[in-house]
Amino acid sequence: MWKPPERIKHPIPEARWPDAEEAAAAKLFSPLRMGPMVLEQRTWVPAMVPWRATDDGFVTPEILAWYERLARGRPGALVVEATGIREIPSGPLLRIGHDRFVSGLTELVATVRQASAGHTRLLIQIIDFLAIRRRPQPEKYFRRYLELTDRHRRAVGPGSDDEIRARLLELPAERLESVLTERELEALRYGHRERVGDTHLDHVRDLPRALPTLFATAAVRARRAGFDGVELHFAHAYTMASFLSACNDRTDGYGGSRQGRVRLPLEVYAAVRNGVGTDFAVGCRYLAEECIEGGSTVEDAAFFGVELARAGMDFLSLSRGGKFEDAKQPPVGWAAYPYTGPSGYECMPTAISDERGPFGRNVEPVARIRAAIREADCTTPVVVAGGIHSFDQAEELLQSGRADAVAAARQSLADPDWFRKMLLGRGREIRRCIYTNYCEGLDQKHKQVTCQLWDRESVDAPGVTLSVDGRRRLEAPDWSE
Ligand SMILES: Cc1cc2nc3c(=O)[nH]c(=O)nc-3n(C[C@H](O)[C@H](O)[C@H](O)COP(=O)(O)O)c2cc1C
Ligand code: SF4
Repeated sequence: MWKPPERIKHPIPEARWPDAEEAAAAKLFSPLRMGPMVLEQRTWVPAMVPWRATDDGFVTPEILAWYERLARGRPGALVVEATGIREIPSGPLLRIGHDRFVSGLTELVATVRQASAGHTRLLIQIIDFLAIRRRPQPEKYFRRYLELTDRHRRAVGPGSDDEIRARLLELPAERLESVLTERELEALRYGHRERVGDTHLDHVRDLPRALPTLFATAAVRARRAGFDGVELHFAHAYTMASFLSACNDRTDGYGGSRQGRVRLPLEVYAAVRNGVGTDFAVGCRYLAEECIEGGSTVEDAAFFGVELARAGMDFLSLSRGGKFEDAKQPPVGWAAYPYTGPSGYECMPTAISDERGPFGRNVEPVARIRAAIREADCTTPVVVAGGIHSFDQAEELLQSGRADAVAAARQSLADPDWFRKMLLGRGREIRRCIYTNYCEGLDQKHKQVTCQLWDRESVDAPGVTLSVDGRRRLEAPDWSE
């Protein structure tokens, strides 16, 4: 993973934990209404892909155990991982693009209800993504994938297609830079990646026609499965975030200006709302800042926030970064991963950082977005995530009106009971995340995600489920009140 060049090692700050009385009076543990849904407390576990679904996207016993473990900590809200809305193979990523997925998801809902004793509101994050290929062997790229054009023929002289391909393959890297287009070079060096601006491709041109229905039917399935709501995934490197992006140069009314870029997200929202009605929560996750050159800024995000709030979204959850544009070159045979560059660092910052450090980097941008939403007379709750790790930090940002709910991903993975421990005045028992991103490294390799602070603990104990490599436990050790 990319690290800021300053490489300053930030210790995990000392934390002061409240006693039970102080916690009971804290804003963090006060209720919050989000449209038709009321959170018992303002604590939130955001979406985290644990890589435990079957290869065709079904819920497994390991998925149930993962969410059961998180639900036992009784967060105000728990968001199920990014779940694909299409009928396309996506590896062990959950799917919701067909009715056959509903029964597994229904079981997941029942598991969470029982484990949280009904205290946790359960959302599912629904996602669309465009095609991305693995970085090819150069031989394969030139012999099979590259579509020959006159530009290539002019560069290497006349001959049969096979001869031209062979000559291109022999060209030195510097020469290739003038012979291949930017996209061809990217396909060679990173793997081909579709963009929302590829409107010469029918299925990309037609995204504004297809996506509202795909999201709406997925949301209806989520409702049937018994979820309290859906979180539309408009963040990071995926299709909807690419529509919102300042890099979206579509000229069909769905790109360019801020109004153009937010048009499809609003149409998706309208279709979803139409499908699920008003007694089911619908919100979205999007980016406070894209954190890439030429990307959307906090001012763009404030504009989008006002538009999405006015349209009637029940909550807005803000992340940051996590883009393909600045991702590292993957090894041959691997696909680019959007959390390997500076914007990936902004999404999941580690303890090796710059002067600002890894904690709460998203708080100020989110505060500005929330202020713009309030100035527009909208009361839509705003959720902040990114390096949130302690009671005082969470409570202060709520008390100062910079956000309405506090999401913690890695701290909740390190200790799924941490909110509960705080509430009970037992904060000293919290296993604190050390922000090394071991978990995120597993995610990058599509390996079952675990935390280094507990995955080697009591692996031989009865009833412990191990990862496929047989070395790591899949769930955090038990804790009882
Ligand atoms: C293993 C892992 C998987 C993640 N999967 C998702 C996901 O499916 N959808 C999403 O919006 N964010 C995902 N994230 C990002 C987190 O929700 C969160 O925004 C990020 O980790 C920063 O919060 P934190 O500092 O509290 O960890 C993931 C993070 C991790 C560590
Ligand atoms: S592996 Fe555990 S300690 Fe390390 S960043 Fe992930 S959750 Fe935190």
